[in-house]
Amino acid sequence: MARVYNFSAGPSMLPLEVLERAGREITEYEKTGQSVMEMSHRSKEYIEIFENCELKLREIMSIPDNYSVLFLQGGAWLQFSMVPMNLGVKGKADYILSGNWAENAYKESQKFLTARMVASSKDDNYLYIPKIKPEDLDTDADYLHICQNNTIFGTRYSEIPESPVPLVADASSMILGETMDVSKYGLIYAGAQKNMGCAGVTVVIIRDDLIERSPDNLPSMLSYKIQNKGKSMFNTPPTYAVYIMSLVLDWVKKVGGTDALEKINKEKASVLYDFIDNSKMYKCEVHKDSRSRMNVCFVTGNPEIDDKFCKEAVKEGLVNLKGHRLVGGIRASIYNAMPMEGVVALRDFMARFEKENS
Ligand SMILES: Cc1ncc(COP(=O)(O)O)c(C=O)c1O
Repeated sequence: MARVYNFSAGPSMLPLEVLERAGREITEYEKTGQSVMEMSHRSKEYIEIFENCELKLREIMSIPDNYSVLFLQGGAWLQFSMVPMNLGVKGKADYILSGNWAENAYKESQKFLTARMVASSKDDNYLYIPKIKPEDLDTDADYLHICQNNTIFGTRYSEIPESPVPLVADASSMILGETMDVSKYGLIYAGAQKNMGCAGVTVVIIRDDLIERSPDNLPSMLSYKIQNKGKSMFNTPPTYAVYIMSLVLDWVKKVGGTDALEKINKEKASVLYDFIDNSKMYKCEVHKDSRSRMNVCFVTGNPEIDDKFCKEAVKEGLVNLKGHRLVGGIRASIYNAMPMEGVVALRDFMARFEKENS
C-alpha cells in the first residue's frame, strides 16, 4: 500500500528513510546480533547510541556547554509539573497563556507554587500570541513559562519575550523546525513525537545552574538533579525511542540542519497560507503575525463542509486533517518530515474541493 501524507498533530510523520533504516535494523543492529529493543541500556553498544544521540542534538541545536540534555519519560505533560517542582524555589512563577497547552501548564503549576498569568489571548479564542511589556514581568519570579508553538490553535511566537528571569519554553511542536538560540532560555522541553521521533521520550535542555535548584525531597524520578546525575539512566530509559530520535537527527543533519529546515518550513507554510488568503472558501482565523509554520488551522465557515473536506481528503491519501476537538475546523500539521510534495498535494486538493463545493 502506498504511504499517505499524514497531517497528524502528533505522533506524526517520520522521514521515510528513518523508517526504512529502522526496518533494516529491526532484527540486527550493526552486527550485534540483536535488535536495539533487546539491548541492555547499560551495554557498550547502547550507551554509544544514547551518547551519540545527545551529541547530535547538541551539534544541531548548538547547545552551549553550560546546558545539560535529559532524555525523560512522561511526555511534555509531566514537564508541566516537573518545571515548578524543580525550579520553584521561591514559590512563584509567571505564565503567558497563548493556548490550551500553556493553560494546562499554568493550571498544573498551581499545584506546586503561586502561578501568575501575565497575559492571555483567551479573549479571542487564542488566535494570537499575547504581547507583553517588560514591566508586566515579575523580576523576582522563579521563571517565566511560554508555549512557543500552539499546536491546537496554530499560533507561534515570532519573537520570544525578553525575560529578566529564566525563560522556560514548551517547544514540543516546533523544536528542530527552526533555529533556536538556546542561550536565551533557562529550560526547553519537548516531547519527541512531532519533530524528533516517536512517542516515549521527552527532551529537557536545562541550564546547569537551574539543575541545582531541585529540592532534595523530590521523588527521584521527578528530580532534574537526580536524572542528570544518572545521565538520564537513573532507571531504564526509553531505549528504542532514543534510537529513533538518533536516526531522525542523522536525517536533520543530512538535510542541512535547522537553518535549512526553517527555510523549507517557511515555504511549506506559505504555500498553504497564500492559497487560503486568496480563496473564497477557506479562512485562517489566526492573526497574521502569529501564524504557526507547523500547524496550519483553517475553516470553511461550515462545520459540515469541514467534515466533508476531511473525509474526502482521506480518499486522496491526505489523512488526519480534522481540527482539534476544542476548535473544530481543519488543521494541517506540517512538521519537518512532511515533504513539500505533501503540502502541494493538499493545496491542489483544497482547490479541487473549493471548485466542487462552491
Ligand atoms: C505544545 C504541546 N505541549 C504539550 C503537549 C502534550 O504532550 P504529551 O502528550 O507528550 O504529554 C502537546 C501535545 O500535543 C503539545 O502540542
